Amino acid sequence: MKKIEEFKDFFADLSKKQKITYISLIVTAFILTESILFWAVTSPAMKGLFEWVNYVRTVVYLICLIGLIFPVIAGIIIFINQKKTPSKKPIKFLMILAIFSLIIPIGFYGYTISIPFQRDGDKPPQLLLLNGSGINGVPNMAVSFWTEDRTTSTINWGPTESMGTKSNELTKSHTHSYLLEDLLPNITYFYQVNNVGQIYNFTTMPNLPNTFKFMTSSDPHFGAENANRTVTDEILKQLIDPSNGYQSFFMLGDMVEYGLFDSQYKEACDTFSPVTSHIPFRPVIGNHDILLGGPTFWEDYFSPDLIEDAPRDYFHIEINGIQIFVLDLEWGTESYTKEQKTWFETELEESTDPDDWILVMSHCFYYASGYLVDGSDWWDHQEMIDTFEPIFVDNGIDMVFSGHNHIFERLENNGVNYNIVGGFGGHPDTDFEKEDDVIGQTGTGSIYYSTDMFGFLEVDIQGDDAYLAFRTPENQTVYNYTITRL
Ligand SMILES: [Fe+2]
Ligand SMILES: [Fe+2]
Repeated sequence: MKKIEEFKDFFADLSKKQKITYISLIVTAFILTESILFWAVTSPAMKGLFEWVNYVRTVVYLICLIGLIFPVIAGIIIFINQKKTPSKKPIKFLMILAIFSLIIPIGFYGYTISIPFQRDGDKPPQLLLLNGSGINGVPNMAVSFWTEDRTTSTINWGPTESMGTKSNELTKSHTHSYLLEDLLPNITYFYQVNNVGQIYNFTTMPNLPNTFKFMTSSDPHFGAENANRTVTDEILKQLIDPSNGYQSFFMLGDMVEYGLFDSQYKEACDTFSPVTSHIPFRPVIGNHDILLGGPTFWEDYFSPDLIEDAPRDYFHIEINGIQIFVLDLEWGTESYTKEQKTWFETELEESTDPDDWILVMSHCFYYASGYLVDGSDWWDHQEMIDTFEPIFVDNGIDMVFSGHNHIFERLENNGVNYNIVGGFGGHPDTDFEKEDDVIGQTGTGSIYYSTDMFGFLEVDIQGDDAYLAFRTPENQTVYNYTITRL
């Protein structure tokens, strides 16, 4: 009893200010460190990383453990002080530990907040496909670019070289996006930025029902040391070659290796722009693109906020009666929000007919062949299959395109055709079939599978038939097939 009294006296001797400082420091250190776990399991960007990557899980658990130390040590100090003469030393030790541990969450959150401000210079124009289509059946597009300085910019655009339509910005901004709507079919349009320099041009799709020829490829991973930039350049050459006749390009994600580095987005934008300022372009967001501040860069460069009430991260693009849905599925269903689900199901219900060609594009795959990485199996993604296959089957989705695995694959399941096109330059996946020490599995319904090549997929829809060809960067067909709309 005497010791307890001494302990009470010890606390009584502390000033009110000291008591508040000690208690608030311990509580803050505990809450801030534990909030990293909360953030890791609730934010769509981190949730996937936390679930799929072992070392991320380990780091987050370690930080949480540090947070849990405070209440434990505080308990031990109280216990010790009850047993022997009270001393300030343990409390001082706890305070030093609390201050030291605060460096982790404060540094982490501070860095995350600062990422959108760490830019690497101007980003040149992109011609982006947006939601919806205009009165002439040509999809809405935008010209978008980003400037280091806040400026008011202008574009002149129109169907003749003298252009004619002038769009001025009224307020200064870093992001510059101009909506091109109600475009006419089969017309070459011209545009110029700020009345100087290059005059860009692009040709709209002819208004022929159920015809559309496009290229798709995925996972260039700009910034990755083991990526192959030569093949990315070669594929872009095929894209802009008029003799190939591509009317659009869909890039299915993992544009950059680490979405938190604007230098990687800068390299991607600079590489794409000479081609994608002329060919209508729809990049799809991937798991690498969203790391930490990545979504801010992505929205600034590829998802302009130009159409009222239209979502910015997922799209319904209609071209010549062909319905194309671009979904935001990065690691899997973590980013399939209630809003996106409602939007997708409503759009399918209200804006499509089962007789239409209906295409779905996303970064994450559904069925796929793959191998064990970091303790996680990168083949048939059961959560994605369970969530989306019933929707695909019920709504007559014809073709599905994705990346994420750096392979080429064609699969067929329950009347739905799936394609994986991860050959745009990111390091090819290990072929589990050829490596004895690699655990892997063939995807359900796999018909063609290759990890031996880079390249792209050409899709040419002509009436009831779609011709698909997996091609190398040099434009050699390695596998092709036809599907017929039922
Ligand atoms: Fe990737
Ligand atoms: Fe990925």
